[in-house]
Amino acid sequence: MARKSKVALSGVAVGETSICTVNGDNDSIHYRGYAIEDLAEHASFEEVAYLLLRGELPTASQLDSYRDRLNALRSLPAPLATVLEQLPGESHPMDVLRTGCAALGCIEPESDSSQEDVIDRLIATFPAMLCYWHHFHSHNARIDTDSGETSLAGHFLHLLRGQAPDPLHRDAFNSSMVLYAEHGFAASTFAARVCASTLTDIYSAITSAIGTLRGPLHGGANEAAMELIEGFTDPDDAERAVLDGLARKDVFMGFGHPVYRTRDPRNQIIKGYSQSLSQAVGDTHLFAVSQRIEQVMMREKKLFPNLDYYAASTYHFMGIPTAMFTPIFVFARICGWAAHIFEQRADNRIIRPGSDYIGPQPRPFVPIGQRGGGA
Ligand SMILES: CC(C)(COP(=O)(O)OP(=O)(O)OC[C@H]1O[C@@H](n2cnc3c(N)ncnc32)[C@H](O)[C@@H]1OP(=O)(O)O)[C@@H](O)C(=O)NCCC(=O)NCCS
Repeated sequence: MARKSKVALSGVAVGETSICTVNGDNDSIHYRGYAIEDLAEHASFEEVAYLLLRGELPTASQLDSYRDRLNALRSLPAPLATVLEQLPGESHPMDVLRTGCAALGCIEPESDSSQEDVIDRLIATFPAMLCYWHHFHSHNARIDTDSGETSLAGHFLHLLRGQAPDPLHRDAFNSSMVLYAEHGFAASTFAARVCASTLTDIYSAITSAIGTLRGPLHGGANEAAMELIEGFTDPDDAERAVLDGLARKDVFMGFGHPVYRTRDPRNQIIKGYSQSLSQAVGDTHLFAVSQRIEQVMMREKKLFPNLDYYAASTYHFMGIPTAMFTPIFVFARICGWAAHIFEQRADNRIIRPGSDYIGPQPRPFVPIGQRGGGA
């Protein structure tokens, strides 16, 4: 009997798109026709955001204006800062972003502006939302969310640490955001499109996407991957534990992919940053442990690491708390979500699939007094 895929709707085309190709035949990704490798090496996150949201790469002056625009939109409205202060300090940062997004939708509803304005505002404020909440609850500080950094990567790292980031950190973070910015009809993007197809507001669609991204089978895999590699100080121990886990049929987050068959094209790029940062911080074991687990998974199961696997150690070497890894995915993927919502809205039909019914056949209603069973 054929093995039932663990991925529902795998390989089923549920719509048309001109935003991105995620090709399992040659394991490639293109954003609006541009190869991911070229974008990650040569483009800033802001250029890629512009490409995804507006359809073409910006000219130098268009990029300057777009950066200025995002920078001018960074400050948090006072009621949103109050909401962030009211949330528990122990909340998961993904819940903070989901709530922050929903709260901004009450404070600055889409009906007061355009969809493009709302998205630029969310791109500009997400890093500040997370850092404001983090500093308020970890040391009772109300931070100034104006970092003076020109890039979003620099802005987040500066707000998180309270000082200008190391250039290698800024570059690695920027590239990771380019890699995370879009990925076709992934679960969270599909959720955003389904939500948008009801003609609801854009904050609702982005909030749905954040909730969908949170799980470990999707964006939460980067946090789960960190928990895995952090559990070992020695590659041999890691190998033994992974072999035991595979024998028990455990699933290791950060490995495998619903579309790619032999490799995730984003992996080589992020792995390079993980290795450079490992050397820069004088890491003695984490990168070696990661590599050993990668070798074991390939040798035993022909499984390759996906973007989340080495993104985890990349962020860890930058000193970013693990619980912030999936929120960083949100900072980037909002561009893909938004491009898909715009596309959905431009030619909308409500998405309402069918299902194969496997329940009871029609039967007569039994009044409550005649149902038998317990007293
Ligand atoms: C993405 C995912 C659901 C794809 O599952 P899939 O389509 O069943 O994958 P494959 O067909 O390649 O699986 C081949 C075999 O490897 C196993 N396998 C797949 N991913 C695995 C993983 N991460 N850890 C351990 N075993 C895994 C499958 O169970 C299957 O085993 P079997 O032949 O004994 O039944 C799966 O790889 C997964 O859950 N990965 C972890 C979550 C993750 O990292 N998500 C982020 C993706 S971007």
